[in-house]
Formats: sequence, C-alpha cells, structure tokens
Amino acid sequence: CGIVGYVGERSAQDVVIDGLRRLEYRGYDSAGVALVHEGAIAGNKKAGKLANLEKAIAEEPLPVSTIGLGHTRWATHGAPNDRNAHPHRGYGGRIAVVHNGIIENFDSLRGRLEDDDIQLVSETDTEIVAHLLELQVESGEDLTTAMQRVCRRLEGAFTLVAIDAQDPDRVVAARRNSPLVVGLGEGENFLGSDVAAFIEFTREAMELDQDQVVTITRSGVEVSNFDGTPASGRVYHVDWDLSAAEKDGHDWFMRKEIFEQPRAVADSLLGRRSRSGALQLDEMRLSDQELRDIDKIIIIAAGTSFYAGLVAKYAIEHWCRIPVEVELSSEFRYRDPILDYSTLVVAISQSGETADTLQAIRHARTQRSKVLAICNTNGSTIPRESDAVIYTHAGPEIGVASTKGFLTQLVACYLLALYLAQVKGTRFGDEINQVLQQLESMPDHISAVLEKSEQVYDLAREHVDSRSVLFLGRHAGYPVALEGALKLKELAYLHAEGFAAGELKHGPIALIEQDMPVLCVVPPRGRDQLHDKMISGIQEVRARGARTVCLAEEGDSSIEPYADVLITLPRVPVLLQPLVAVVPLQLFACELATAKGHDVDQPRNLAKSVTVE
Ligand code: G6P
Repeated sequence: CGIVGYVGERSAQDVVIDGLRRLEYRGYDSAGVALVHEGAIAGNKKAGKLANLEKAIAEEPLPVSTIGLGHTRWATHGAPNDRNAHPHRGYGGRIAVVHNGIIENFDSLRGRLEDDDIQLVSETDTEIVAHLLELQVESGEDLTTAMQRVCRRLEGAFTLVAIDAQDPDRVVAARRNSPLVVGLGEGENFLGSDVAAFIEFTREAMELDQDQVVTITRSGVEVSNFDGTPASGRVYHVDWDLSAAEKDGHDWFMRKEIFEQPRAVADSLLGRRSRSGALQLDEMRLSDQELRDIDKIIIIAAGTSFYAGLVAKYAIEHWCRIPVEVELSSEFRYRDPILDYSTLVVAISQSGETADTLQAIRHARTQRSKVLAICNTNGSTIPRESDAVIYTHAGPEIGVASTKGFLTQLVACYLLALYLAQVKGTRFGDEINQVLQQLESMPDHISAVLEKSEQVYDLAREHVDSRSVLFLGRHAGYPVALEGALKLKELAYLHAEGFAAGELKHGPIALIEQDMPVLCVVPPRGRDQLHDKMISGIQEVRARGARTVCLAEEGDSSIEPYADVLITLPRVPVLLQPLVAVVPLQLFACELATAKGHDVDQPRNLAKSVTVE
C-alpha cells in the first residue's frame, strides 16, 4: 500500500493527493484521505483508483487543513470496497489511521474490543488499531505515547500513520518490517512509504529502524522505540529522480520486485499459525471434513503460475499422499476432464483475472468440484468465484513477467500442502512444524542469494549474444528450469528451453553445440540418487561442448569439476529449493534483457493479465 502523511503550511489535501498519485503503483484497490479540521477529522475514501477519490472530493470539497494523511490500498484483509478503504477511524471519530502490512494477532485484539462493546464497521485488521489508539488518547495520553503502547501489543508487519482530531500539530507513525520514510522540510514535515511520496517538496529524508515510532510536527521530528526510549533516524539526501524513486532506486519494477522477494515471502507466511501453533489458513472456507473427502487434486494455471503448480505437485503428493494433476488452464477446459465432489481444483493466478483459468474454474464448479484459489489480488474474479482462497501477500506486481508473485505462490502451495497433511493426518505435527520453521527461514536464504546478484549480472552480460540457452533440472528443480527458460523468452526474446535432466538422452542432448550455455539446477545432496543423476546429466552435456552454469548448494564440491560457472545456493531441503534456485534465473533474465536494451517491465507482445481466452 502507499502511505502519505503531512503537517506544515500547505494544503494537506493537495500534498497528500499528489503523494498518493506517485504511490499509486503500490496499490490501486481504493484510496482515502483524512485531515484535521477544527477539532474533528474530515475526509473521504473510495474503492477503485485514486481518480474515484479525486472525483468525490471535487463534488464534495473537504475543509482547508494543513495536517493530514492518505492511503492507496492493496487489499490484504477484506474486500476492496469503500468500507474497507483507509483511513479507518476510532469508535468516537477522533483518530484516523492508515496502515500497510498485516497484523497477525488481529483476531484476539478484535475479541477484546468486542468485549468493550466496540463494534467494528470494516473487515480490516487496521480498524482495530484506530480503536486501540482512540482508547489511549481518550484516557489522556498524547498520540505518540498511545502509538508506542498500541504497537507493543501488535504482532506482524506494519507501517501505521495516525492523526488525532484534538492535536492539529502532530502526525505519528510507526513501523515494523514494513517501509516508512520521513521527509524533512522547513516548517513542514512528511511521511511516506517511499521517497516518491514527497520528493517534489524535499530531498532531505530520514530512515528509521524497525520497531520505531516517529512524530512529525511543523517544527520537528522525534523518533523513539516502541518502549518510549528516545532514538534517532539516519538522515540522507535523495538524489533519485521520481522514476527511480518509485522503483526504490532500481532501473525496473521487475528488478525491484525481485529484491522485494524476502519481504513478500515473509509476509505470505504471516498469521498462518494459531495460538496453539497449528497451521491455520483463515481464508479457507472448506471444512476439514470436506478436505478429508478429497481424493484427487487438479491444479490449473497459466504461465509462471503453472510452474508454481508443478512444484506444488511434488510437495502435496509427498506430504499428503493425494494424487495431483497439474494442467494448463487453456487445455483443461476443453478436454472433458473427469471431476466430481471429491476432486479439489486449485487455481493459481497472481492477477485473479486470467480468462483461461477463470473459465476452467467455472467448468470445474459445474461438475461439483470444490475450487480453491491461490491469488495475489483480493477481490479479483477468480477468488470471488472460488470456494476457498489462500491470498499471497506479494503486494502489487507491476513488471509484466511474474517474480515475487511466483515465490509467494510457492509459499501458498507449501502452506496448502502442509494444511492438507495436518487435516488428513498424513504427517505428524512435529514434521509440519519443522517444515514451517524451514519456510520461515527462507526470507534470509533468499536475501543471501540476492547478495550474489553481481556474479549473475556478469554472467548475463557475457551471454548477451547467445542464440539459445538451455535449462536443466530434476524433481522440484525441473519446474525451476522451465521458469528460468520462460523468463528468458519473455524478457530477452531469446530461444530458451527447460528440460527435465533425465530426458536429455531422449532428445534434447541433440541440441547441444559448442559453448552453448546450459544452466543446471542441482538438487541438494540427499539420501536419494537425484543429485548424482543430475551430475551425470551435467557431465553428458559438458562432454558435448556445453558451457555449464551450475546452481548448487554450498559445500557441494562434487559439482566443481563439471561446472564452468558455479553459483552457490543456501542449503535447503529439495522441496523448498525452488524458492532460492529460481532467484538467480530471474536476475539472469532481467540483466540479459537490460543488456540487450529491452523494456524489461513491458516486454513486447505480452500483457500482465490476459483477460481473453
Ligand atoms: C501472463 C503474465 C505472466 C503470468 C501469466 C498468468 O502471461 O505475463 O507473468 O504468469 O499471465 O497470470 P496469472 O495472473 O493468472 O498468474
């Protein structure tokens, strides 16, 4: 979501709306603004793009004010409608708050508010914060102290910005694992989810640490920790232009999104454990009994989402012992598939609007199958027409070629697999917990891979004149090879193919020419023979002149003699390896396309969401 806060001498409405316009790429489900005027909160909020809000304000102007905040939303909790749009107000209308992130202990906090007879009017986790802040300021605390106290009770990831109708010189914000920067002016100060929110007005910015609260007034900025102890931020000068600012300093949205993956994966894991530690999927509207009755799963998807489905098959079959078919949406619909009430159809779609996938789930439902959607876009058509939804929390994906969408889809697939294993009892709680812990460590592993980006960029630039690139993988690494090849086709317009390494000898090996680059995803060393079989495949292509680029786990020295280039990956279980192995392949395609001078964010002939069959 995009967040703006302002206090100064200018019209807060203008500053906030301008800032929101520049942050709209962060979310466009709804937009809202709130101002302090004569001891009350004034404001408006509207579903849809910012233009809807601007129109509403033009029709019904807000009073003039020099302090306010605003928000553009990318829905996580609750559908994208007017009611769920931010800002949210406290029960007495004194507090207005905007929020980006996910508050994990939302349910237990809601319970306590309901005990106090506070009725919630929206389905958001944010509204809870508005009420909690209002309770504190009503008890006589200033907004800064109230924010510190409330933040100590919150679990999850959040950026919060709040105003108090009775304090016309103070905007208070807080952050934990979610972005927030302060813009420093003369007689005015700003808050934003990124510097794009305010670089038109000031280029002096202040960065905060985690778990800090910042108070801006007309004359100053004060930082503290959640426990109230004073702290300080790091002041820096912004020399990016607007276009770089909204990409966080990167040249492409896609590159920014690749680097956001640790965060996106972490967010997609938030709030999935109940207080007892059991896995919970709150958007799961199928009963345990309905899930226990399932004896077959068909996964349908298109493009990159289809490859997430291929990985899911390995995980679900292994952990749950339920047979899984994975099928392209466009093929599924027209082959008269065998479906009934005991088949669960899982539709994976980042956008939630892909026409082929939508038609496929409609068909499945006419055959009495239950449909579960894995989707990144709250309120889109596919989740609306499904029986259950697992939302990924990647945030809006702007680059046409999916990256963080894919990684978070993988996370959702693992969560679904573990959930089914829990419900069906095919795995013990301890085993499920162990995998969950491994998943929770993945954001750090992905960050470690991203730290090696320069090595991958050098490699990509060396291959800018390649005519053809092959990708090999086995087991869960096979879909990774397919995705690596797809990225290269999409972005670099280069002939690329992904193969299951075991199939080499049945055809693809005939393609190998002298110096042809072959990128090989090497499975971790394990008890099975996967790893050794992969090494044999690599030897075979190398013997025929291929230039082998091997992605293998740290410490795997057995690969060294056969790798012309070695990219090391963190040591993770084979089923989770796609989360780290695909990252260098994304970087490779992005950089190679950049070197060729292509538009990485909007590749030729492609659309972000294909809404025709
Ligand atoms: C388009 C996009 C791909 C995406 C595919 C499926 O082809 O360019 O990046 O993977 O659609 O989209 P979905 O929104 O259904 O995941």
